[in-house]
Amino acid sequence: MKKKLLGAFLALTMVASMLVGCGAGGSNSNKVGVAMPTKDLQRWNQDGSNMEAKLKEAGYDVDLQYASNDIATQVSQIENMINSGCKVLVIASIDGDSLGTVLEQAKEKNVSVIAYDRLIMNSDAVSYYATFDNYMVGTKQGEYIRDQLDLDNAAGPFNIELVTGDPGDNNARFFFGGAMDVLQPYIDAGKLVVKSGQTEFDQVATANWATENAQSRMDAIISANYADGTKLDAVLCSNDSTALGVANSLEANYTGDWPIITGQDCDIANVKNMIAGKQSMSIFKDTRTLADQTVKMVDAIMKGTEAPVNDTKTYDNGTGIIPSYLCEPVFADVNNYKTLLIDSGYYKAEDLQ
Ligand code: BGC
Repeated sequence: MKKKLLGAFLALTMVASMLVGCGAGGSNSNKVGVAMPTKDLQRWNQDGSNMEAKLKEAGYDVDLQYASNDIATQVSQIENMINSGCKVLVIASIDGDSLGTVLEQAKEKNVSVIAYDRLIMNSDAVSYYATFDNYMVGTKQGEYIRDQLDLDNAAGPFNIELVTGDPGDNNARFFFGGAMDVLQPYIDAGKLVVKSGQTEFDQVATANWATENAQSRMDAIISANYADGTKLDAVLCSNDSTALGVANSLEANYTGDWPIITGQDCDIANVKNMIAGKQSMSIFKDTRTLADQTVKMVDAIMKGTEAPVNDTKTYDNGTGIIPSYLCEPVFADVNNYKTLLIDSGYYKAEDLQ
């Protein structure tokens, strides 16, 4: 009897330890870690929940974390993901340069890394990059301003101010670079005038992409250059959170005709502003498409095959070119937002009321 009990006890202990082994992510773990920067911006919530849903549909366990835009938090979340046995990490970094050390641990443990939306710099642990064509985002914003002001025909000159994103986000340089490749010739020709004189990336960057930072910079620009009734014709904003700051500042400080304002993400607050005539356009990046592509990458890595990519020349992270899949961004304004955003099921009509 005692022997039987002992046998049963041993068997139970074995099963229990096997279960713990799985939980800790044994070698055939099915777990994917998804590290997102922050819940503050609507887009990352959307990215996170789309990815979680699609990965689960494909049969994977998912550990989804948001890091409140705090680099140390993101590093420790990634460390936990590695230690809990995730086999693939999908990471939208807060600061592309701060993950090198933690990703060395990933490499040691054979954990694959996909850089999501933002490239992770100076780490050879990154296998793939899934994003939108960031340079194209910028050119579309620049072209919008060019076409709306009819820069090739109108006499001008027109006043413009420039607002881009966080210096630690590699994307910001692509957005700004793309837009400036369109706008710079008009600035050089004197048809566009930046009255603040702030045209360099470091002068126009917005720490953390924060609405408040864009707003306070715009407050200062308006009071120094546009408080006397001088017309501001356009503000290039690289994304929606900065566009929101600019719109808030204009509302509080500026009395002239509303300028053209660009944006990116089609966040709900900004689409509402677009409908109300306070933002001219946004770039729509359908996060469902990006999630689909990323799930294909995860799947390929898990199965030991090659993931689909469509760009092998643009994104060098300092250790070499990272094979990338670039989704195509599209332009949204008050004329096409219903088709793009509501008919496609991205938002419900009542979300935008
Ligand atoms: C993303 C944008 C986003 C910005 C701020 C960028 O890396 O590509 O869509 O607006 O970060 O979160």
